[in-house]
Amino acid sequence: MGTVDEIKQRLDIVDTASSYVKLEKAGRNFKGLCPFHEEKTPSFFVFPDRQTWKCFGCGAGGDILSLVMKKEGGDFNDALMILAEKAGISLDRKKDVAEVKLTDRLYQVNEAAAEYYHAMLLNESAAEVARAYVHRRGLDKKTVVDFQLGFCPNDELKRHLKRQGFSEDELLAAGLLSKKEGKLYGLFRQRLMFPIRDSKGKVLGFGARALDNSMPKYLNSPKTPIFDKSGILYGIDRAQRAIREQGFAVIVEGYMDVLAAHQYSTANVVASMGTALTERQVTMLKGLTRSLVFALDPDTAGSAATMRGIDIARRSSDRELLTLPTLMGTASKLRSEIKVISLPEGKDPDALIREDPQLWQQLVDQALPLIDHLIAAVSSKLDLTRPEGKSSASEQILPLIAELEDEVQREFYLGKLADTLGISEAVLLRMAARLHRSPREKRSRVPSKPLINGCSSDRTEEYCLSL
Ligand code: UTP
Ligand code: MN
Repeated sequence: MGTVDEIKQRLDIVDTASSYVKLEKAGRNFKGLCPFHEEKTPSFFVFPDRQTWKCFGCGAGGDILSLVMKKEGGDFNDALMILAEKAGISLDRKKDVAEVKLTDRLYQVNEAAAEYYHAMLLNESAAEVARAYVHRRGLDKKTVVDFQLGFCPNDELKRHLKRQGFSEDELLAAGLLSKKEGKLYGLFRQRLMFPIRDSKGKVLGFGARALDNSMPKYLNSPKTPIFDKSGILYGIDRAQRAIREQGFAVIVEGYMDVLAAHQYSTANVVASMGTALTERQVTMLKGLTRSLVFALDPDTAGSAATMRGIDIARRSSDRELLTLPTLMGTASKLRSEIKVISLPEGKDPDALIREDPQLWQQLVDQALPLIDHLIAAVSSKLDLTRPEGKSSASEQILPLIAELEDEVQREFYLGKLADTLGISEAVLLRMAARLHRSPREKRSRVPSKPLINGCSSDRTEEYCLSL
């Protein structure tokens, strides 16, 4: 978390404003006499939900930092120092201040760029080609506005943002401009712009889709101090409430998939942006829910990437589990629950939702727990009448079964796998023991100590007992 965020999280704007103005309650908000102009009736409002303030008399407004800045008459650094001290955050190094200031400026320049691109898409005649594209992709006006989609027609952005007080260095640092052989040029041209926000709604960077077949299909902001693909979930700002309310998150791959899902009322959907889900992304989701539903792209590359992400989600829940008192019985509840939606061949969520929103809803509702999905997947991909198929399938699935906390579930899935493969549970147990001895599996959660002390010296027997 950036220092500004940390300060904002620790301090309440109502407290800070109260030190300047006598506030009284006005519904969920507070009002008082504006400290910035003469008045007899209160038009200065403080909004605790959004942690912002606004005077409806003189029009001034902003966040906690701008309030302190305006009231104390200092600049951004001074306000930052005052508030950092109040929040108990040590911030005496010049470097800290410079860093925080740059980050804050990057958020601001991105926000200004997003607004600019959005206005272009809505109003400019040069954006006709982009509006036609948006229409062709079936996006309605509400989606365009909610996600603040935009268009960058030309190199006007630089001039526009410079007029707003941003420097070329700031534009470069935000990744909006690029430098080639000493010349600056706009990174995005003739593309549909997707502002990418964090959970608080701040613009971290952009995804930009070509309107024709030019490559790359999507151009994303380069890595900047605030944009790092591995720590971002597209749509999280608009999805988090639905994720909390519905108790699960649906993870898709692409920008367009998120837009389609939200447009057709499944708002608990976020995108990993085409890569395997990273630990940071899993951690972000875990703050909201423990139930993750993966919408797998049917093409194999997509599936492989998603499987890697699932593996990370699975393993990161294991680590967490190990630090818990497992005997307390809450452990199995705390594990994240992972389900998988299998999409029809050749359809990504975007295409499917647009074609048949009800089927999408049904597939989400009927998502299969990971192991059921894998059993179904190996059955359709491998030749299970052949011994190689059988052993390959069991090698892939047994370790997951062995990891299950719940004994009843372990028993159930062992039976199910045995049935699917047409071999006895006894054989599967022996295989499991062999997997257990291979070095790769030593790291798995299969108990390495005898569960029943002194009863057995045979590791196979031990393993079978523990399973
Ligand atoms: P896809 O190729 O599945 O694109 O990439 P898509 O989301 O279905 O987009 P449309 O429907 O063709 O317009 C999935 C995601 O991978 C990332 C993007 O986040 C994209 O949404 N990606 C893909 C890139 O970052 N760059 C690329 O060139 C391609
Ligand atoms: Mn698509």
